[in-house]
Amino acid sequence: MVDDQGLFGQAAVAENYRRYLQPYLFDPWAKRLVNFAQPLAGQTVLDVAAGTGAVTRAAASAVGSAGRVIASDISRPMLSSLESAVAADSHAHDAPVEILECSATDIELPDASVDVVFCHQGLPFMPDRVAVAREFYRVLRPGGTVAVAVWALGERLDPFDGYAKFVRTRLPDSRFARAMSDGSLSMTTDAVADALLGGGFVDVVSSLERLTVQWPTADEEARGMAGTPFGPEIASLDSAAQAAFLSELTTMLADENGDAVPHVMTSVFGRGMVPA
Ligand SMILES: C[S@@+](CC[C@H](N)C(=O)[O-])C[C@H]1O[C@@H](n2cnc3c(N)ncnc32)[C@H](O)[C@@H]1O
Repeated sequence: MVDDQGLFGQAAVAENYRRYLQPYLFDPWAKRLVNFAQPLAGQTVLDVAAGTGAVTRAAASAVGSAGRVIASDISRPMLSSLESAVAADSHAHDAPVEILECSATDIELPDASVDVVFCHQGLPFMPDRVAVAREFYRVLRPGGTVAVAVWALGERLDPFDGYAKFVRTRLPDSRFARAMSDGSLSMTTDAVADALLGGGFVDVVSSLERLTVQWPTADEEARGMAGTPFGPEIASLDSAAQAAFLSELTTMLADENGDAVPHVMTSVFGRGMVPA
């Protein structure tokens, strides 16, 4: 077990993430990222910072039952949530999923043992991104591919900007609101390319990608906030304050009919190769 489970280290955050953020936000982006790298049937894929498994599940479907998918993360609760989702809903044609609890800077796999490494929305939480890219390079076979995605710096980032705006009015000292304003959860195309080049990758490409996402209801979008690192701050409020918080946030996120508003989101996708 890793000592520091990080910002996603609480079971309630993991469950809310899997229930209210993954299906509407992370799954659509994960499918796009898997398509960007195009793993082949039968290949071995490593999903670093797998969280509750958005990329893991899409990759397992892409490489099929002859393939192998390893989901690694620093947070045991995120991996436990992923494991229970796989146990409850596994498809015969998908690759089996293995779980690896470890840091992205110290991946517990041999050198040159995987064909494709994914890291979706993980890099911003890792201070030394070049060290992480070097570790991706180490575990990839010659000819292997890395594909990463992060939110694009300088672009509107809903629902998180909306959450942060609301939080600032209620809890101005919130760590979450500060992280949203200082851009630490986003990167530029150059920063992504530099990290991959610094890790040793060749044929590096880095580009902006856009996708529109929407929750079925504004209430579900509001509940997604409890699946962010801000979740414990909401959970620390008493139950009446939590209900008021959720109801006011729901109102803020709804259109004039009370429905959730679609959000155009922008990510940076980066890809690199290990020379064959
Ligand atoms: C925003 S979530 C992304 C999860 C998943 N990739 C997805 O697309 O839904 C960020 C994840 O990065 C993990 N993480 C943060 N720092 C990490 C590190 N140093 N090593 C491994 N995982 C880390 C967190 O535990 C969390 O599960």
